[in-house]
Amino acid sequence: MKFFIDTADLDEIREANDLGILDGVTTNPSLMAKVGIKGENAILEHYKAICDIVDGDVSAEVIATDYEGILKEGRELAALNENIVVKVPMIADGVKAIKTFSMEGIKTNCTLIFNAGQAIMAAKAGATYVSPFIGRIDDSSWDGIDLIDQLVTIFENYGYDTQILAASIRHTMHLVQCAEIGADVATCPLSVIKGLLKHPLTDIGLAKFLEDAKKTR
Ligand code: E4P
Repeated sequence: MKFFIDTADLDEIREANDLGILDGVTTNPSLMAKVGIKGENAILEHYKAICDIVDGDVSAEVIATDYEGILKEGRELAALNENIVVKVPMIADGVKAIKTFSMEGIKTNCTLIFNAGQAIMAAKAGATYVSPFIGRIDDSSWDGIDLIDQLVTIFENYGYDTQILAASIRHTMHLVQCAEIGADVATCPLSVIKGLLKHPLTDIGLAKFLEDAKKTR
């Protein structure tokens, strides 16, 4: 399973990248606003800065919601770097634009996926990735992990090339369950990536080994 980091914070991206396990980055308008990016040029420059750090796909989301607008914005984003993936919302014009982008060889990530029907539509349009939001599904008293399971089955049934990118991951168990089920990618905050490193018995065991090592020096 590929690991993407879900942030627009350059320091966090560098920290995850330095671990040597990072395969890509996802952003969204809320994450861009969180780090204070404002203005069209600043947004484009920020995506370029992310691409300079990470050798992997970087999702950059369009703001337009009409077909022509999505195409214009998406083509501009895709021209920034070969690793840019145009993130398009799951709406009718978005699906149409994904189809056009796929014919043009532009990579896409269909975002805001909350059920299997939406994911099938995006896959049929030729999306590179679909992003089911598992944390937000959990928030609505449904099971986000069940959706990942369903999508793995459906995509295998028909040999879709579209990759399942589990998004809105809130904790390490989400990530482990995605790996168990066979999601292609998990995108998560730095805290979740770092959380995977932790176990109290590791800390206790290491402290004991270091203490005993003193006896051998
Ligand atoms: C990433 O592609 C999504 O935009 C993101 O994971 C959403 O996460 P959230 O539900 O924590 O905002």
